[in-house]
Amino acid sequence: MEAIIRPNQESAALLVALLVAKELRAQPSLVLGLATGRTMESVYDRLARMHQAEHLDFSLCRTFNLDEYVGLAPADPHSYRYYMNERLFRRVNIDLRNTHLPNGLAADLDAECRQYEEKIQRCGGIDLQLLGIGKAGHIGFNEPLSALRSRTRVKALSSATVEQNAGFFGAANVPRRVITMGVGTILESRRCLLLATGPSKAAIIAQAVEGPITSMISASALQLHGRCTVVLDEAAASQLQASDYYRWIFDNEPEWEEFR
Ligand code: GLP
Repeated sequence: MEAIIRPNQESAALLVALLVAKELRAQPSLVLGLATGRTMESVYDRLARMHQAEHLDFSLCRTFNLDEYVGLAPADPHSYRYYMNERLFRRVNIDLRNTHLPNGLAADLDAECRQYEEKIQRCGGIDLQLLGIGKAGHIGFNEPLSALRSRTRVKALSSATVEQNAGFFGAANVPRRVITMGVGTILESRRCLLLATGPSKAAIIAQAVEGPITSMISASALQLHGRCTVVLDEAAASQLQASDYYRWIFDNEPEWEEFR
């Protein structure tokens, strides 16, 4: 794992967008894993602007989202399908048939989960997986005690996550069940890129990045991944012990020169 610290939210999101754009230019048929949440909104906005200004080409790109609520239709403004359509897909030249989210309305949810994993396999696996982090340390919707080898499955949301998402729904209406890629599914992607910004993520980032690997904090499993970059702003990095070392890497290592 490597941690990269940028001065503010905007520059952290820009770096993530630039890393995605670089991979997409190198491999136009990239299989891109996507995340939702407020943190990702500025990444998608940047990518959409790169499409408009620099013709960043999504025409061959395939995407798989981490998760979706059970029981919400794609047209529901609270669904992650709606979020993705609005924030990214309809703003770039992606073929909607190449965009995948679990179907939260499937009659047989377990079969839907199995088929989602099969679709990822048929596309050759995920090249680059974008991730946010929940306040309790989840990636996707892998709530505390999610097995580190778990696959796409139905999960019940913790009350902390329900509370965190209540603002989007109006208190009583947050769905309690979701379909989410498992921690094992996420760890199989070739590269992971986690973005966390703001002071509310500082404590959980310190635990996930520098603490022990534990199923209580599913993001800590990313320490097992061979190629995982965690991009932070100063606020989210404020409780890390080795932040001077991480800053030195970004400022000095040749790999980061083009992004400085
Ligand atoms: C939800 C999503 C996660 C996301 C998290 C953080 O739980 N399922 O994928 O990382 O929210 O959201 P935010 O960026 O709004 O803090």
